Amino acid sequence: MAQPMVVAIDGPGGAGKGTIAREVAQRLGFHLLDSGAIYRLLALASLQQDIDADDSQALVDLAASLDIAFPTQGPHAGEVVLDDQVVSQAIRAETCGQRASQLAAHGDVRQALLERQRGFRQPPGLVADGRDMGTVVFFDAEVKIFLTASVEERALRRHKQLMEQGVSASLHDLLQDMQARDERDTQRASAPLKPAEDAVIIDTTAMAIDTVIQTVMTRVQSSASTNGDV
Ligand code: C5P
Repeated sequence: MAQPMVVAIDGPGGAGKGTIAREVAQRLGFHLLDSGAIYRLLALASLQQDIDADDSQALVDLAASLDIAFPTQGPHAGEVVLDDQVVSQAIRAETCGQRASQLAAHGDVRQALLERQRGFRQPPGLVADGRDMGTVVFFDAEVKIFLTASVEERALRRHKQLMEQGVSASLHDLLQDMQARDERDTQRASAPLKPAEDAVIIDTTAMAIDTVIQTVMTRVQSSASTNGDV
C-alpha cells in the first residue's frame, strides 16, 4: 500500500521553515513534525541530567528513553511536553539550540531518533521540517523544499521574534550563534544540512510569507495530481 504523502521542508535556522510548515500542514489537514524540537528536547533532557554533549552512548540511551509528546488535543494542545512537563518555551532558548546542534552531529544519536521521526508519517499525510527530512528521514518524500535566506536576514527575523516574545537579545550575538550553528550543521559528516538533489530551493530573503506558502502549495498540488493522491 502507498505510504502517506510527505512534504519535506529543510533549511537553516531562521529561514521560516516552522511558520511555513505549520501553515501548509493546516491547509492540507496533514500532521506536522518539527524535527528540530526532537533534537532540542534531547538537548534539554541532557542538560537536565547533566549528560556530556560528547558522551554519545549516554545520549543514545537517553534518546531511546525520551518521554516526549506533541499533543494536538486536550489542555496541552499545541505544546511540547517532556516527562509530563510543558517545555515549549524552554526548548527555544539559544542554549538548547546550540546544544541540539552539538548532539545532532553524532551519527549514532541521529540513528537513535530516526524511527521516532518516521513514526509521524500517518494518514492523510505529513509536513516535516528540519535539516535532513528530504535527504535522509523521508528520502522518498513526494515534495522536497529547501528554504534558505541570508544569514543576516535570518538573524534579524530571530531577533524580531524574540523581541515580540519580550526576550531581549543582541543582534550581534544572534548573528554569531547562527553562523556557528550553520557551520556545524553543514560541515558535519552525518546527514549534513544540504538540499536533496530533487529539492526545490526557495530563497526567502526578500519574499513575503504568503508568497512562499503559495509556492509550496503549488508544488504539493502538482505532485498530488501527478501521483493521483488528490
Ligand atoms: O530547527 P531547530 O533550530 O529547532 O533545530 C535545532 C538543531 O537541531 C539544529 O541546529 C540542528 O543541528 C539539529 N537538527 C538536525 N536535524 C533535524 C532538525 C534539527 O540536525 N532534522
